[in-house]
Amino acid sequence: MNDLDALVRAAGEAFAAAAEPAALENEKARFLGKAGSVTELLKGLAKLAPEEKKAQGARINAAKEAIEALLAARRAQLAEAELNARLAAESFDVTLPGRKLSAGGIHPVLQTWMRIEEIFGSIGFDVADGPEIESDWHNFTALNNPENHPARSMQDTFYVDMKDADGKPLMLRTHTSPMQVRYARMHKPPIKVIAPGRTYRVDSDATHSPMFHQVEGLWIDEDISFADLKAVYTDFLHRFFETDDLQVRFRPSFFPFTEPSAEIDMMFATGPNKGKWLEISGAGQVHPTVVRNFGLDPERYTGFAFGSGIERLTMLRYGVNDLRLFFEGDLRFLQQFN
Ligand code: FA5
Ligand code: MG
Repeated sequence: MNDLDALVRAAGEAFAAAAEPAALENEKARFLGKAGSVTELLKGLAKLAPEEKKAQGARINAAKEAIEALLAARRAQLAEAELNARLAAESFDVTLPGRKLSAGGIHPVLQTWMRIEEIFGSIGFDVADGPEIESDWHNFTALNNPENHPARSMQDTFYVDMKDADGKPLMLRTHTSPMQVRYARMHKPPIKVIAPGRTYRVDSDATHSPMFHQVEGLWIDEDISFADLKAVYTDFLHRFFETDDLQVRFRPSFFPFTEPSAEIDMMFATGPNKGKWLEISGAGQVHPTVVRNFGLDPERYTGFAFGSGIERLTMLRYGVNDLRLFFEGDLRFLQQFN
C-alpha cells in the first residue's frame, strides 16, 4: 500500500471517529485544509520533473476526491443521527387526550339583561347607563326622598369615604332610579329610556344580594299614565317569559318618587318555589316634584317609571330559588344556562 492509500485510509478512520459535526470539520482541516496533508502533497509537486508531476498530480487528486467523498458520507451520517436524536427527544404520546379549548358562556343574569334591552329596544326605548358611585342628590334628594328616609341610613347604603360637590358623602347607588334624573335632564320629551346596571345595598339572603342588577324604565311625555305602565310592563313580561300564561299582580306600595306607586309580583311557574310569589319590580307614576327636578313642567309632562330586579326575573325564568347561586361562580350551576 502506497502513502496515498494510507492517507485515504487514515482520513476515513479519523472521520469515522469524529462523533459530531464540529469534530468532523476539525478532521477535515487536518486533511484538506490549507495546511492539511493533501495540500502539502500538492505543494510538493513543484519540485518534481514535468512527467512525474503529471502522474503524481493525478494520483494525489484521486486521493483527494476519495477523502472528500468519505467526508461527505460521514457528514450525511452525522446529520441523520442528529435528526433522529432530535425526533426521539421531541416525541410525544399521541394517545394522550387532547387539550380542549372550552368556549365561555354568557352568565344567566347578563342573558336576562340582553333580553331586556332587546325587548324594550324593539318598542323604541333608548338604552342608557351611568355611574355606580352616585351623589346624595341624584340617588335620594332629586327623587324626593326626605332627609330622614330610612333608605339613607348606614344600615341600608354603602357610603364611600369621599364627598360630593354638596359636601355629602358619595355612595354606591342603591337603585338605578338616579338614571331617571340624569337622563331626563339631558334629553327632551318624549323621554323613553331603560337604564340597566349594577346596584348595591346592605342586604343578603336568598332573594337579596349586596350587589345586584336593576333595570330602570322611564317614559315621559304629554299623555303617559299609569295605564301605559300596566300595558307596557305586562307586554314586556309576556315577551320576556315567552308566554301570556303568567301570574302577575300590581300591589299598592309607596315610593317618594312615584304617586301612585306599586310593586309588581310574579308567581314562580317552575322550580322548588313553584306557586310562590316573588317581587320583581317597583313602579309608579312619576311624582310631580321629580318631573320638576327633570327640568320639566309637571302640568304638561307626566309618565311612569319602574325599577326591576334582573336577578329576580332570571330566578323566575329558570325556577332558581336562591339568587346567591348567580354569584358563587360554580360552573355546575352556570353551565346549565348555556
Ligand atoms: C326600588 O329600588 C325603586 N327604585 C324602584 C322604582 C323605580 C319604583 C321607579 C318606582 C319607580 P325596590 O327597593 O323595591 O325599589 O327594588 C326594586 C327591585 O329590585 C325589587 O323589586 C327587586 O326585584 C330588586 N331588588 C331590590 N333589592 C335587591 C337585592 N338586595 N338583591 C336582589 N334584588 C333586589
Ligand atoms: Mg320593593
